[in-house]
Amino acid sequence: MVITHSQYQDMPPAVQESVLNVVGGYPLSGQVRVSGAKNSALVLMAASLLCPQELCLRNVPNLADVERMAEIIRSLGASVVKADDSLLLNASNIGQSSAPYDLVSQLRASFFAIGPIVARLGEAKMPLPGGCAIGARPVDLHVRGLRALGADVQIDHGIVHAYVRGQQKRLTGARIYLDCPSVGATETLMMAATLAEGETIIENAAQEPEVVDLANFCCSMGAKIRGAGTKTIVISGVRELHATDYGIVPDRIEAGTFLVAGAITHSSDFTLTPVVPAHLTAVMTKLRSVGAEVSIEAPNTMRVVSSRPLTAVDIETLPFPGFPTDMQAQFMALLTLSEGNSVITETVFENRLRHVAELNRMGADIRVKGNIAVVRGVPFLSGAPVLATDLRASAALVIAGLAAQGTTQIRGLHHLDRGYEKLEDKLRNLGACIERANIDVEPDGIASSASLTNSPLDQPAPLKP
Ligand code: EPZ
Repeated sequence: MVITHSQYQDMPPAVQESVLNVVGGYPLSGQVRVSGAKNSALVLMAASLLCPQELCLRNVPNLADVERMAEIIRSLGASVVKADDSLLLNASNIGQSSAPYDLVSQLRASFFAIGPIVARLGEAKMPLPGGCAIGARPVDLHVRGLRALGADVQIDHGIVHAYVRGQQKRLTGARIYLDCPSVGATETLMMAATLAEGETIIENAAQEPEVVDLANFCCSMGAKIRGAGTKTIVISGVRELHATDYGIVPDRIEAGTFLVAGAITHSSDFTLTPVVPAHLTAVMTKLRSVGAEVSIEAPNTMRVVSSRPLTAVDIETLPFPGFPTDMQAQFMALLTLSEGNSVITETVFENRLRHVAELNRMGADIRVKGNIAVVRGVPFLSGAPVLATDLRASAALVIAGLAAQGTTQIRGLHHLDRGYEKLEDKLRNLGACIERANIDVEPDGIASSASLTNSPLDQPAPLKP
């Protein structure tokens, strides 16, 4: 299509977009440091609203989602000061009981704050978190649980309004059964129950390590919680919590992502620390079945070696201690190069297979029917421009790029930056050929054709040994 000079002048200027350029074929070696767990940091920040004194959270990852949660907490009247990898949080004067829609809608974990706020103030207004790329993400279990704890909860024009009638404005302990072991609902209700009158029992609770981390954090503030990590959690309410200085657990999903990166890149041999091996049992078991050598080198250090051909394995995502849904996309990337047919069943979220199309653009052979993906191993992947659709899909595309022939350019990095701290720096320190670059994107969102070929990484990868 020819456009006139004046039309060209009227066009909005091209904008710049960050992308990752990855040249595949480089083995990984050395040691990588695992950051604090995103899904702990976010809920522990919410739980800090329970405490009327300043407290310190350590080992907090530097992530976009953590920044967003800090903004939300500030909007409620609390203060959040960042100091290296620590946060000083002070919710002594939270007055506001409602958070702004534009912030909450971007961060599902912020909805969990409804528990601490209504427990602390007797009233909370939180916008319903929108659905996201991976599913509808309802909050009915959170709402039903708060009602069981004695809160009146109305949903009006997308705002969840929870309030406790009566002079006391204090929640009352209850026995709550969760239809499904929802991580967020378990966390919201456990936080709410810490200040309730009497005892709360949560049955069919989520057992994820982040739930245990939250319980340990609340107990360090004086809460009385037993059974976290099992299906039944018992909380005895107290009147008030006190300050604490608490270190967040290492991120098991980031660790799992690096283990898979080691497995897919031939002749890799590196260690990860700190990790909690017990958080990675399912992932470790499946990696060994595929043919990667995964070992525990020290109480908080794991090692991955890839020297053998990869073979197909079936995966079914389940609540902890089953195979984590947050590792499904990354593992699928690995299985695209595993000989034979692998069947991946995603049972936790209804729309978490969107990375299939992008992996197939790289030469993978994956067919999807409902929540099942059948992956037929292929001899190689080819680098290509790809677009990330959600957080873990972006990690899967990086992993595929590390093994593909040629250069892969990954767009949609806002997803990746939500959940991975300096991923490209960490991978480059292990020997990967990966860089973050800016490309010109035309107003219609199409990258200028020069962007891919101009990558300084565009060099032949080392010959495979
Ligand atoms: C947490 O989300 C994590 N996020 C997710 O990690 C993780 O994938 C998920 O748990 C499962 O492990 C955070 O911790 C911030 P759920 P959450 O409630 O709590 C249904 C990542 O990539 N459900 O356990 O929202 C729900 O639809 C993110 O780091 C209800 O039906 O997950 C889903 O099908 C993605 N009603 C299932 O339960 C409810 O009230 C599990 O969801 C709540 C959930």
